[in-house]
Amino acid sequence: NEPRMVDRHGRVATDLRVSLTDRCNLRCTYCMPPEGLDWLPKVEVLTDEEIVRLVRIGVEQLGIDEVRFTGGEPLLRPGLVGIVAGVTALAPRPEVSLTTNAIGLARVAPALAAAGLDRINVSLDTVDRDRFTQLTHRDRFDDVLAGLAAAQAAGLTPVKVNAVLLRGINEADAVPLLDFCLEHGYQLRFIEQMPLDAHHAWTRGEMVTAEDILGRLSAAHSLTPDTEARGSAPAERWLVDGGPATVGVIASVTRSFCGSCDRTRLTADGQIRNCLFAREESDLRTALREGASDQEIADRWRIATLGKLPGHGIDDPSFLQPARPMSAIGG
Ligand code: GTP
Ligand code: 5AD
Ligand code: SF4
Repeated sequence: NEPRMVDRHGRVATDLRVSLTDRCNLRCTYCMPPEGLDWLPKVEVLTDEEIVRLVRIGVEQLGIDEVRFTGGEPLLRPGLVGIVAGVTALAPRPEVSLTTNAIGLARVAPALAAAGLDRINVSLDTVDRDRFTQLTHRDRFDDVLAGLAAAQAAGLTPVKVNAVLLRGINEADAVPLLDFCLEHGYQLRFIEQMPLDAHHAWTRGEMVTAEDILGRLSAAHSLTPDTEARGSAPAERWLVDGGPATVGVIASVTRSFCGSCDRTRLTADGQIRNCLFAREESDLRTALREGASDQEIADRWRIATLGKLPGHGIDDPSFLQPARPMSAIGG
């Protein structure tokens, strides 16, 4: 019994990203329309027990050693603390992290830490309160700041901040975001926007590239490449003003890292996606609800991994954006 999930290009999937809901309490303009989307029907969403069971199969039988909970917004899931506790109790214990917008985090950070959560990544695209409201359609900037501080105080570290820059909207926030993160000891990463928006409005020409971002940062700080091994991490890192603080760039589009990808994804409705840009999904929910054994589920998951495409293909003339937006796949 092969205890690992290997694809035809020799990559091994050891990092599981679990979307806990497709809903969100913000409406970031590059992600969701103000009125929201057609949410998944409740019966199709995995229960807390189903999620923990699938993660257990991944950990016990398939070599998963890292689990990240995402959304939509994972803090909207009422059972989140229990799910985290269930997953950190597995053997061998995976590393467990959360990617969130931090709204409501101030209240639950201590409980998440007590449940064994290791660390947190927070999405924040500006440090200007008015621009935050403009970008997210919600006046919740203070909640995010409080959430970040609470995560750090609870030891959910390193706290990382993810920022997406949009041309002509928040590009000028690059340096203020870095200064804010340096001041508070958060690890900032800028992310190139990918064609995963609900509106299918992404264009390569509009995207703020890694090169643009590094150019802006270099005007205010000296950046030197971080020589620490990157492994399969999506972020390339630079030491800021000689270090030890770093800033990262996740250049999914212009410097894709698909060749070292170690991810597999589980959507909130129980579908395995072997890539953000996968053309097909494998339905573990139906298998689970029809009484499949752990072994049968593990076999399905392993097969789903095999056919993973070598890369996202964004530059291919035949590229088609996935039908599901990022919020329904898991960020
Ligand atoms: P750590 O570096 O382990 O903290 O996590 P991470 O950077 O993988 O996780 P996070 O959820 O913070 O993801 C940050 C960003 O990386 C996401 O918003 C995506 O834009 C990008 N990203 C995450 N997973 C993938 C992936 O599988 N493929 C690509 N191309 N980009 C990804
Ligand atoms: N491209 C890149 N990153 C995105 N995010 C949301 N949509 C996109 C996109 N199209 C980011 C969010 C958050 C993370 C989970 O994903 O800003 O930081
Ligand atoms: Fe992995 Fe697909 Fe993301 Fe590339 S685009 S890094 S293959 S999940």
